[in-house]
Amino acid sequence: MKTPIFDFVKDYAESNASRLHMPGHKGKSFLGCEKYDITEIDGADVLYNASGIIKESEENAASLFGTSATYYSTEGSTLCIKAMLSLVCAGKSERPLILAARNVHKAFIYAGALLDFEVKWIYAKSSSHLCSCPLTADEVEKQILGCNRTPDAVYITSPDYLGNTADIKGIATVCERHSIPLLVDNAHGAYLGFLEKSLHPIHLGATMCCDSAHKTLPVLTGGAYLHISEKGKEFIPHAEDCLSLHASTSPSYLIMQSLDLCNAYLAEGYREKLKATAKKVAELKNSLGELSFEASVSEPLKLTLSPLSYGYTGNATADYLFKNGISCEFADIDFVVLMFTPENTDDDFARVLEALSGIEKKESIRFSPLSLPREDEGRLTLRQAVFAESEWIATERAEGRICASPTVSCPPAVPVTVSGEVITKEAVEIFKAYNIDKIKVVK
Ligand SMILES: Cc1ncc(COP(=O)(O)O)c(C=O)c1O
Repeated sequence: MKTPIFDFVKDYAESNASRLHMPGHKGKSFLGCEKYDITEIDGADVLYNASGIIKESEENAASLFGTSATYYSTEGSTLCIKAMLSLVCAGKSERPLILAARNVHKAFIYAGALLDFEVKWIYAKSSSHLCSCPLTADEVEKQILGCNRTPDAVYITSPDYLGNTADIKGIATVCERHSIPLLVDNAHGAYLGFLEKSLHPIHLGATMCCDSAHKTLPVLTGGAYLHISEKGKEFIPHAEDCLSLHASTSPSYLIMQSLDLCNAYLAEGYREKLKATAKKVAELKNSLGELSFEASVSEPLKLTLSPLSYGYTGNATADYLFKNGISCEFADIDFVVLMFTPENTDDDFARVLEALSGIEKKESIRFSPLSLPREDEGRLTLRQAVFAESEWIATERAEGRICASPTVSCPPAVPVTVSGEVITKEAVEIFKAYNIDKIKVVK
């Protein structure tokens, strides 16, 4: 597979040209990578008005991912989420309506504030965790039928931060029956299309999705894709404009080179490497199961431990692992999440097993799950709340106040209380459990 962006920048870096253009480092070494950090010079193409090397590279990605069109983002899935929501909101004569599973990343909330769409939230019957919203296709259909008008899109997050995946195929069938685009936040699942049996949202029937390449593929932080399927062809002519609406005009060529090189990585032996890694993760889960460590069912590259039954909180387990040279992706009271890719060594796997084998099993911790706040309608719209006059107050004093900004940093960046909703007593408990001691509320 060709790597046109990488090749162009390499040739330019080796050409020893006098750089009388941005950036100001002029290719001199401060961090070490500056000679490859260029801007949109002649021949380097223009992201979001691509017709040269970027277009060629994006087309390579589209053919690898099996999409009708794929666009690069150097500003993460965050940018792609805003762009795909802009695409479904554009050209509507009334205020757009999005039917969304409640476990959205905060990028969705900010998109709602900027685009002023109305949201109808779908809550899961069974979930007790902020990050999860397990839905059946029937539930989604019931919610569609319960709307007072046809939603402009259904929006789900799959996989979620804990590695749970949704029934995208079933939900896509429902959406198709009602002629509604299905948008999937697949930030955690860029690799899913390369499994023996693809689990990528585009192959399961989604209209559009975002993938954070940087989360699971060997791509620099910030690299992501906006994918559009055959079903979403009508959105293709407007995609670059909708990305531009939210993006910087100075995209990182370091990240674009990384996305470009990733095409070659994916084309050359990745499927086999992925299969072997998924097998190692499954074996690790089995070995931990033999030690009576509970690992949740999750997508193949995540190991999500529920250590309460072993006598430890997720946070305590993550601290212990850190002291043993293992840095986890995410931990809270209930869970610890570890993410693997083919770039992890056998030593990494062995270290996790060895460290966890060394923990003494204790009496299980009984912890009543924090019940998630549920509000069918906010007091204010997302836009009104996010742009309202607001103030920071101590979490203990927030009950009864209206939430202004989402106030949950990454990870998991899933809002406890949605902007515009009243902060309940239960929500205060969850904020505290995530060590959030200040909340931005409407004045
Ligand atoms: C579910 C989910 N969606 C979207 C994002 C945003 O992705 P990015 O960091 O690539 O902008 C994240 C980030 O962690 C996420 O967990």
